[in-house]
Amino acid sequence: MGSGESERQHRRLDAYNRTRLAPRAVSDGARWLEREHAHRCDEIRFVDQELAAVRSWAREAPTDPERFVAWFEGLCSLGPGQGDPLFPWLAREADASQMRWFLAQETAGEAGFDDLVALAQLKLPPRAKLEMARNYWDEMGRGKEHAMHGPMLERLGEELDVAAMAADPVWESLALANLMMGLAANRCYGYQAIGALGVIELTAPGRAEQVNAGLKRLGVRGEARRYFALHATLDVKHALAWNREVLAPLVAADPSAATALAEGALARLTAGARCFARYRSELWGEDAAADAA
Ligand SMILES: [Fe+2]
Ligand SMILES: [Fe+2]
Repeated sequence: MGSGESERQHRRLDAYNRTRLAPRAVSDGARWLEREHAHRCDEIRFVDQELAAVRSWAREAPTDPERFVAWFEGLCSLGPGQGDPLFPWLAREADASQMRWFLAQETAGEAGFDDLVALAQLKLPPRAKLEMARNYWDEMGRGKEHAMHGPMLERLGEELDVAAMAADPVWESLALANLMMGLAANRCYGYQAIGALGVIELTAPGRAEQVNAGLKRLGVRGEARRYFALHATLDVKHALAWNREVLAPLVAADPSAATALAEGALARLTAGARCFARYRSELWGEDAAADAA
């Protein structure tokens, strides 16, 4: 698929995803279902392609629970996009408008971790379900609105007036959000969704720390930076618990889940790496971005 077609597909899916999970009152349910069907065919074609691209790598994942978790944790250094030079540059060199542009893209690529976890935990056995409930409760600020993670990111966006730059995000950011929603909303990808969410917890802290350092260097106050400061440490704990309480028991109960969990993780990291490469080429120019890759 050419980048023009990818662009059109991801803008289409993004428009659908913005409202798909919201409750609504329709008078013609059959017509709603027809539209839903067309969008989901489009979505599933995209998700299947992304998973097929990482399948042979995913088959290398061990099917023994302990060895699977060790393999999964190895993705933190060996996975696609890990150690991308974009992040040290954001920490040390990006100016305020470059940082705002980056945050606008990241916000566009954010599918709402809380809703994704809520969808992914359906019908899981108790141990995995309970860990995902604890994770969800943290996303909910443990019952305090000001501590909810989604609104915390929105407040940073408002403080830096990111909306002014978010009108036209690159398609790679939309593809990242579309992938996460496609995995979580279709139960045929239940294990892949859990692998993808787990690898976010595993790999987010390193990036969050560098973004937080960049924001601090640019004079952004602590309260506004809280989303990144928090995820630099909290997600380390979330990842350990996810691997121990969700991944290991699921692989123990069904060894064939290992490949699907690995597929989701690798597809998510690959989609992230595609974003970082595009961000570098937009922020640094094509040649400098290619030299750094
Ligand atoms: Fe979070
Ligand atoms: Fe987390």
